Amino acid sequence: MKSSPWWKEATIYQIYPRSFFDSNGDGEGDLKGITSKLQHVQDLGVDAIWLSPFYKSPNKDGGYDVADPRDVDPRFGSLDDVKKLIEVAHSLHLKVLVDVVPNHFSDQHIWFQQALKAGRGSPERDRFHFYDPNEDGAPPNNWISLFGGPSWTQVDDGQFYLHLFDSSQPDLNWDNSDVANDYEQTLRFWLDLGVDGFRIDVAHGLVKENLLTNHPNPQGISDALRLDVSMDPEIRNALLPTVPYFDRQGVHEIYRQWRKLFDSYKDREILAVAEAWVHPPINATRYVRGDELHQVFNFDLLDARFDSEILYAIVVRSIELMESVGALPTWALSNHDSPRVTSRIGEIQARALALFVFALPGSCYVFAGQELGLPDGDIPDSSRQDPIYLRTNGKQKGRDGARVPLPWSGETAPFGFTTGTPWLPLTDKWQGLTVEKQNIDPKSTLNLYRTALKLRSDHLVGQGEINWFESPQHGAKSSSLLAVRRGNVSIYMNLSNSPIEVEITGKLLIVSAGVVDARDGKMIIPAISTIWVHH
Ligand code: GLC
Ligand code: CA
Repeated sequence: MKSSPWWKEATIYQIYPRSFFDSNGDGEGDLKGITSKLQHVQDLGVDAIWLSPFYKSPNKDGGYDVADPRDVDPRFGSLDDVKKLIEVAHSLHLKVLVDVVPNHFSDQHIWFQQALKAGRGSPERDRFHFYDPNEDGAPPNNWISLFGGPSWTQVDDGQFYLHLFDSSQPDLNWDNSDVANDYEQTLRFWLDLGVDGFRIDVAHGLVKENLLTNHPNPQGISDALRLDVSMDPEIRNALLPTVPYFDRQGVHEIYRQWRKLFDSYKDREILAVAEAWVHPPINATRYVRGDELHQVFNFDLLDARFDSEILYAIVVRSIELMESVGALPTWALSNHDSPRVTSRIGEIQARALALFVFALPGSCYVFAGQELGLPDGDIPDSSRQDPIYLRTNGKQKGRDGARVPLPWSGETAPFGFTTGTPWLPLTDKWQGLTVEKQNIDPKSTLNLYRTALKLRSDHLVGQGEINWFESPQHGAKSSSLLAVRRGNVSIYMNLSNSPIEVEITGKLLIVSAGVVDARDGKMIIPAISTIWVHH
């Protein structure tokens, strides 16, 4: 069944262009490479792709440092290559989302270069957040960059500019109308080229408050934002709403304007999804009010333990939260900013969890490589590129592990990804994980994903709400069992290391691992496994 609009219960495949497929042997993935592999994506059974940035960029932060948001970086190809990619994707019935990065530009963007030249007090500087130092020479406030170190950098004439991320990513001043006008042009540019929507980077960060005031606990908010596990959750929850640069009311006015622009494109159903880390969680719903964006990422599963109580609470809460504004939740187990789910909770657990999540109402985001069960890459420190690693002097390893290129074929690294030297090393240990090997193995994670996504659209999309019948809160027969019914399908996830017998009749549609023993109205769900049963 199809949902309407298409994105309501879509599965969306995130491609990190640099790591997908290299068409020209320079060791980095590119647009032609993506286009040549779209058949793999279609075979997976997803509805859309989301492309992380491929714009002109010095690539200090994996392309999230954009030097020209309306042009393609030569390392990825050309605008013609984007057009071709969109054309081929559409011919395969795949929608295309691109990333927009409205919180900041690269310091190589012409505006920033002009601002440096034009000097203090100029209209050029007003497009960013430039201020004089305090009397004692210190930066205008004590905020800490999300990548570590101060969030201000001084330029030659003594002024400081604000950057929530790397010093090469100056934050834009959204009170300056040039900024809004330029973004409108950027959105139109990609829509006119044929894209179906946008993923909005740091959507909660565009508006800053109290720019000239110190925060009472800058280290505290920085730790809280990093979801530092050693932190008392109560302290964290109290600190997060005080972050003066995230989730301020003003951001919503910006998205209301954007929504008008989106709605003016009558020829397609546009999807705009916000990357918004907000607290308390209810604030996320504001981004998907009727006149704002369409979806907001739900990051709760990205760091959740494989534990029935925790997962039950997340699923219930995510659905309820979005219900309050008539929206459906989104789900993600991995992305380019977090450790891969296989490394975090284990291979077999990741398969069980994916199969459980694919049955839930809402949209599922799949990070390229997740369908292969890829773990994080093992990266020597000397190869690391993430500014988080560099700015914390190695204290935090950063996100490169999740960004290692995909293994496609052959017996040794780099497994067909490139004929050259890959920009991050692949390991020979991935020999069994290539697309080529998994294609022919019916038990592979790739084939599990393909079958699951096909069954999802046949039996679950559009089936409305879920009904729980086994959970810690439902007096489940085992505290390690979660089970829901949706439409004509019952979904059981056994989180324990032992098989669990349940009374059930029906046809087994799929199992994430192991073999299901079914007889006399009973089924034995294998250890750490999810099953779908059709009634
Ligand atoms: C988002 C991106 C991340 C990037 C940051 C700054 O969180 O997902 O990769 O580093 O924004 O643009
Ligand atoms: Ca290349």
